[in-house]
Amino acid sequence: TPMVVVKAEAKPINPEIRKSEEKVVDTVVVTELSKPLTVYCRCWRSGTFPLCDGSHVKHNKATGDNVGPLLLKKQ
Ligand code: FES
Repeated sequence: TPMVVVKAEAKPINPEIRKSEEKVVDTVVVTELSKPLTVYCRCWRSGTFPLCDGSHVKHNKATGDNVGPLLLKKQ
């Protein structure tokens, strides 16, 4: 019998954020960071996207995923 290769299911991870845009891109000029720490969402579940609001914790618990934010620290 032929070997069956099971691929990871290909489905979108972004449920609702800025879906009218072809690609969601945000640019931050690091030298212009106003706060010592800014936390950016990478899980697409934040209610304050592109900033993280902690929603990744609930998403990870519900799905077994391990996503987390990008932290920008001012030097
Ligand atoms: Fe998305 Fe925290 S809410 S990474």
